[in-house]
Amino acid sequence: MALLTDKTALVTGAARGIGKAVALKFASEGANIALTDLKMDENFENTIKEIEAYGVKVKGYASNAADFEDTHAVVKQIVEDFGRIDILVNNAGITRDGLLLRMSEQQWDMVLTVNLKSAFNFCHAVVPVMTRQKGGSIINMSSIVGINGNAGQCNYSASKAGMIGLAKSIAKEMGPKGIRANAIAPGFIITEMTAQLSEEVRNAWMKMIPLRRGGTPEDIANVATFLASDMSSYVTGQVIPIDGGM
Ligand code: NAI
Repeated sequence: MALLTDKTALVTGAARGIGKAVALKFASEGANIALTDLKMDENFENTIKEIEAYGVKVKGYASNAADFEDTHAVVKQIVEDFGRIDILVNNAGITRDGLLLRMSEQQWDMVLTVNLKSAFNFCHAVVPVMTRQKGGSIINMSSIVGINGNAGQCNYSASKAGMIGLAKSIAKEMGPKGIRANAIAPGFIITEMTAQLSEEVRNAWMKMIPLRRGGTPEDIANVATFLASDMSSYVTGQVIPIDGGM
């Protein structure tokens, strides 16, 4: 039997990149997929079609993960459409990099809101559903810089460190209800987010990676599948770096 048969997964920010790879991998393991992203455009529609090809139930929702009310409305709709939510992947995220002294309040607020508050919003809406079901797996897409810090990314690193604290706290609070919560800390993964970086910055990253390659979204999706499945049924409150040994 496939690893995620009969489970329903909700993946945020999944029209492209890591979220898309996670949704595809989950579907290949038999999960039904609810995915969100900011707007329903051609790209999002194509992702939905690719997931459909696995023969699972799939539905996309245009929603702003940073908005508390919007998130609760979308989770209510997903429960109506799918009947349950077994897996939540808080993946939606952005960067607005800059050195501390040049960082505007807006840059700080935006990154903290989209990356960290969004994870709170979804956990707040989904945990009651998982509690009723007596179980579930929450995965926060953190980052290696949430553990190590990174010059020029105070806002992003703080948001990603916050996602680790959130996962660890939910693991403690909700463990007795059968809900697990973990974080993944990707290193340098080749997606449109990292494509924005200069050649110089990319080369500097590459030198720090013992495996001498950037990670792929599929590298992340494989570990997310482990955390989503019952294979990790005794794993909670953990952070798993996926960074080529960085
Ligand atoms: P990406 O930029 O390719 O994809 C992010 C997706 O999130 C986009 O489809 C975007 O539209 C969506 N999104 C942004 N704001 C949203 C909002 N308010 N509501 C709903 N959706 C929203 O990024 P990528 O590389 O796939 O990253 C995915 C996650 O992994 C992010 O949380 C990122 O911080 C994290 N990550 C990525 C790394 C990398 O090297 N690419 C490294 C470490 C962590």
